[in-house]
Amino acid sequence: MTFKFTEENLARIDKARKKYPTALAAVMDTVYIAQEQNGYISTEVMEEIANVLGIDKVNVLSVVTFYTMYHTKPMGKYHVQVCTNVSCMLRGAYELWDRVKNKLGIDNMQVTADGKFSLEEVECMGACGYAPMISVNEDYYENLTKEKVEEILESLI
Ligand code: FES
Repeated sequence: MTFKFTEENLARIDKARKKYPTALAAVMDTVYIAQEQNGYISTEVMEEIANVLGIDKVNVLSVVTFYTMYHTKPMGKYHVQVCTNVSCMLRGAYELWDRVKNKLGIDNMQVTADGKFSLEEVECMGACGYAPMISVNEDYYENLTKEKVEEILESLI
């Protein structure tokens, strides 16, 4: 399926592009806008990003596959990311990970049957001082306990 940016998003990309000395430097902003519009970054979306910025497709692919905030397949309405890197791990991240997995009934990179939740184990999300933490879409939840995680998930079900 062909992907085209909306006129509004093309204007946003143009504005983002002007913040940087090169088109390549605007790739993260552009991928972010694409994901907002499409929900995930398919091959067709990557091709259109490369086309709009006038850069090579491999540059888009390398960014999309490096950062955990970008998805190459449809994820749930609520995408839950659990950090299990060192600071979070030392403060109980794997207990949170098990709690979330059991509560949602899915494993890493899976989506619930109703499409409401998806789950991803991630590396450091830059909130080590508030470990352990999870994110739901773009919201961070920090200094968590198993009980707090339970409350967060219950509020979304
Ligand atoms: S180790 Fe979890 S946010 Fe840094």
